[in-house]
Amino acid sequence: MTRPSKPARHALVVGWVALALACGSAAQTIEANATSELAASAAPNTALARLAAPADNGDALCGLPEGWDMACLRAQYQGTPSRWPRPAVDTGKAWQEWGPVPDVPAPANAGEQARRTLGQALFFDPGLSNKGRVACASCHQADKSFGDGRALSVGEDRLMGRRRAQPLFAAPFADQLFWDGRAPSLQAQAKDSIRNPFEMNNTLAAALAHARAQPQYRDWMQVAYGHADISEDEMVDAIASFVRTIRPPVTLADAAIAGNTGQLNDQQLLGMHLFRTKARCMNCHSGPLLTDNAFHDLGLSFYSRRNQDLGRFEATRDKADLGKFRTPSLRGVAHAGPWMHNGLFASLPGLIRLYNAGMGTVPGDPAQDPYVPPKSPHIRALELDAAEIDALVEWLKIL
Ligand code: HEC
Ligand code: HEC
Repeated sequence: MTRPSKPARHALVVGWVALALACGSAAQTIEANATSELAASAAPNTALARLAAPADNGDALCGLPEGWDMACLRAQYQGTPSRWPRPAVDTGKAWQEWGPVPDVPAPANAGEQARRTLGQALFFDPGLSNKGRVACASCHQADKSFGDGRALSVGEDRLMGRRRAQPLFAAPFADQLFWDGRAPSLQAQAKDSIRNPFEMNNTLAAALAHARAQPQYRDWMQVAYGHADISEDEMVDAIASFVRTIRPPVTLADAAIAGNTGQLNDQQLLGMHLFRTKARCMNCHSGPLLTDNAFHDLGLSFYSRRNQDLGRFEATRDKADLGKFRTPSLRGVAHAGPWMHNGLFASLPGLIRLYNAGMGTVPGDPAQDPYVPPKSPHIRALELDAAEIDALVEWLKIL
């Protein structure tokens, strides 16, 4: 893939949105103001109905006893993020300010260009799978933020995996790949996917034999590696070279991060402010890709239940990693659902309402059972009202 020019990246966004509208898949539709409407129609004295009462933000910067002073917020969010109010991040928690997503570096030479071209062709080639039906791109689709729109991915012979296909916007910048970080490089990751019985179900040797047998690939192999009979390691190196060129489309959030917050409407601006402050999201979703690339337990491990997934612990067997999953990038998140490692949420408003309640809690007493996954100390109940939850969702929609 050649370096995407700005207009080309914009064109991709337009095509993308059109496709999302055309497909109209239920999982991808996010109702405007869904939580306000739900709260207004909920039975009195239920948790949902209580969200209708405006939150008291009197003690907060630009806060009012009922809601927010938008003119004040507009004045605070001028210029680029380094000049904005400091985000609410817990003491000692590593975080990084937002910034532009790094551009794809221009290929250093013809070899690098050929590695990317070959890698792209391999990424889209179902011939790498055992029966020739499943490509990387089957589960990593550009219009779904390089996920596949399913709660759990489906590989060859329709075998269902136990996790959702990850969107790939964080992958070019991550040192530990997969939800549990078990792959130390994009090359190791690609080998895992080709061999995984729930993905491409193949041997590396058979995948390589297929690749080497394609006349058009051999020309690229010659330029990329100096010989047409490339090795298994060179094959996955080419795939990794392509994955490193994957970038999220440019969105309104990029305009805001570049200093043009005037392009955001009130709801989007409030959502951004809440994300950085009251809603505490910056504790983990920071930096240009909106991820700390670290591992956290949100209480979604289904510990001791049938669909238990202990996440990073299963890769390290270190009790400190129980129930932890890698923070996903939130770039393009509105198109990436259903969300979480297991596709638990088909709706973003529903997901935010659970964050608001302090997320899930697994049964069990850590004093009695050392394997009960402890929830991250950065996850707390948030006391957002319905209008604030709606604003947060509007912000997520433009990432
Ligand atoms: C059957 C669906 C499927 C296929 C085919 C597939 N993947 Fe994936 N991919 C997944 C799932 C599921 C995960 C998460 C798995 C986990 O965390 O255990 C994943 C994770 C990844 C990640 C990690 C992203 C990150 O940020 O850690 C990368 C990169 C990736 N896949 C690239 C590829 C490539 C390259 C191929 C082809 C060689 C491929 N995938 C084939 C389903 C698939
Ligand atoms: C303690 C760190 C932490 C905090 C704080 C946090 N998140 Fe997350 N977030 C994660 C992790 C880890 C996951 C993946 C969890 C899983 O799959 O089990 C995640 C997943 C998500 C997802 C799903 C993305 C996807 O592709 O599946 C969304 C949306 C999200 N977070 C938004 C938010 C918002 C909005 C806030 C603030 C209200 C927030 N997060 C606060 C760590 C955090």
